[in-house]
Amino acid sequence: MRQDFQEALSCWNRKRLSPTFPTAISAERFEDDRRMLRLEIGFLEELRQEVIAEARKAPTNPDGFISWFENLKATGPGQHDRLFPWLAERADRDEMRWFLSQEAAGEAGFDDLVAMTQVKLPARAKLELARNYWDEMGRGNAKGMHGPMLGQLVDILELDTRIENTVWESLALANAMTAMATSRYFAWHSVGALGVIELTAPDRSAHTARGLRRIGLSGSERRYFDLHAVLDIKHSRDWNDEAIRPLVAEDPRRATAMAEGALIRLRCGERCFDRYRGHFGLE
Ligand SMILES: [Fe+2]
Ligand SMILES: [Fe+2]
Repeated sequence: MRQDFQEALSCWNRKRLSPTFPTAISAERFEDDRRMLRLEIGFLEELRQEVIAEARKAPTNPDGFISWFENLKATGPGQHDRLFPWLAERADRDEMRWFLSQEAAGEAGFDDLVAMTQVKLPARAKLELARNYWDEMGRGNAKGMHGPMLGQLVDILELDTRIENTVWESLALANAMTAMATSRYFAWHSVGALGVIELTAPDRSAHTARGLRRIGLSGSERRYFDLHAVLDIKHSRDWNDEAIRPLVAEDPRRATAMAEGALIRLRCGERCFDRYRGHFGLE
């Protein structure tokens, strides 16, 4: 079952990425890690198969690739889903809460994904990922950290973000992002996938913020979404100019890998929106 598989992958991700002690080392754990790693790569290969033909069409010269990439905002999988205007204008408080609980559970931690992706990248791209990471960290100010900001909203709305209460599509999105960021085989995929989040988040965030305002949340309570509706426009521009463009100029093969990563991320998102609409009876 997809639900069981994604739950298992989510639990394993939580376990393997948590800081612990040498006492946790055991033969069983090695065995488990090896088995799960194979399953994880298998899952990524399955996702790749869905997008490989489309990604091959992406130009591999820097200018051509950037315009192909930026065009995903208008025409990429799952873009302009009717779920979002509905959230902005119609969803009631419990519907907003269910949506946010799925999204929060499916949030793999953008900060950590950036941090894991930047390992051994060429300097210019590494610097851009560092600036982006620093923004995620509230530029050194705890109150400005993005992760805890979302955590606050989870607390205020008393959202249930337990793995077993999260639909597999949301778990799969987080698991795919984590898989790409932790495997060096998929490092360029991860740069593309993170970049497409920056590219497409502002529109979704703005709709979500409108919905939250409508159900009565204050400015400080909506801050995570208000912030991303604006800041990610700049993040996206910088990511494209300072990370994607020079990386593609150095090695055109990276364009195809980034295209695959971006399309994988968008397809995972599209499956979430379909499932959410089904849940809300919006077919
Ligand atoms: Fe952020
Ligand atoms: Fe961002």
